[in-house]
Amino acid sequence: MTDPLVTAARRAREFAHAPFSRFKVGAALETADGAIITGCNVENATYGLTVCAERVAVFKAVSEGHRTFRRIAIVADAAEPTPPCGACRQILWEFGGDLEIILANLAEETGRFRLKDLLPVPFDARFLT
Ligand code: THU
Repeated sequence: MTDPLVTAARRAREFAHAPFSRFKVGAALETADGAIITGCNVENATYGLTVCAERVAVFKAVSEGHRTFRRIAIVADAAEPTPPCGACRQILWEFGGDLEIILANLAEETGRFRLKDLLPVPFDARFLT
């Protein structure tokens, strides 16, 4: 059976604004109380202002008052797993800590990770003395 979080990420991917790369990504973040907040990548003609699906999901969630997260699903139409970029790993760590990360494509799951394994030595607020 398909994980509902993956289904939500697949749906969110449909809204991706990716006219430059044509690489559409969807993300779905599960909060501690079971809510699902989604995001898609939103590209920009300046390229550098593009925001990944994962960060859109995190910022949407935080802006709606959610502060504790359990899992995130990330979906792309690719045979190889599409892991979060370095910037997204940092943001996910800041707000989600050692989240479970579920990678999937349009047909199947392609991998499961803990964020700690993708970002083993994170910088965070503990270093701000
Ligand atoms: N992208 C994401 O949204 N998430 C990822 O995990 C990898 C990359 C987006 C950014 C850009 O719009 C496109 O994919 C190509 O890099």
